[in-house]
Amino acid sequence: MQEPFILGITGASGAIYAHRLLRHLKDLNVEVHLVITEHGKQVVAYEGQQDLFSLATKVHRNDDMFAPIASGSFRHRGMIIAPCTMATLGKIANGIGDTLLARAADVCLKERRKLIVVPRETPMHAIHFQNQKTLSDLGAIVLPANPSFYLKPQSIDDLVDTVLARVLDHLGLDHPVSHRWRDMGHP
Ligand SMILES: Cc1cc2nc3c(=O)[nH]c(=O)nc-3n(C[C@H](O)[C@H](O)[C@H](O)COP(=O)(O)O)c2cc1C
Repeated sequence: MQEPFILGITGASGAIYAHRLLRHLKDLNVEVHLVITEHGKQVVAYEGQQDLFSLATKVHRNDDMFAPIASGSFRHRGMIIAPCTMATLGKIANGIGDTLLARAADVCLKERRKLIVVPRETPMHAIHFQNQKTLSDLGAIVLPANPSFYLKPQSIDDLVDTVLARVLDHLGLDHPVSHRWRDMGHP
């Protein structure tokens, strides 16, 4: 088995992104260490996505600073935060590692490891944009939860997968999720 990925889930709408990402990573036989914020747990439950927990290889408590993912010495292939709130985005952009999730993201930045944030909010104000620019300048990939329609999605799962296919691409994984533009031909 290869090194794992880390998935952080926060209290933004769109728990289905985390759920389907975990499903795809499991299908690809990839290990995932999961950490979720308190508000993340509440939104996951509210949006009916509680089944996601069973798909993770390991679930860490967000107040467990002794977890391996808090350390730069823990080897992994990258961290995804999906969906990512503006609150957590602001914390990470400002180097505040006071929860396990924020600390693991901070470690990615300092160790120059892959960090993909999937922000979800609308509309946004200038601080939201500034924080995303800061993270981008630090090497993180800011991949908003903006589904696309040009591949003609037929269901909510299809729509969600238009975002997740890009996440999986950026993780460097070969995957069958969603179509690619070249498959669709030209009218
Ligand atoms: C149902 C629900 C949906 C929410 N959706 C969003 C959202 O899409 N984006 C966002 O930034 N915050 C959203 N929030 C607010 C966050 O949960 C709140 O700012 C929280 O403090 C974030 O904490 P966390 O980043 O530690 O998870 C939502 C809250 C609830 C209850």
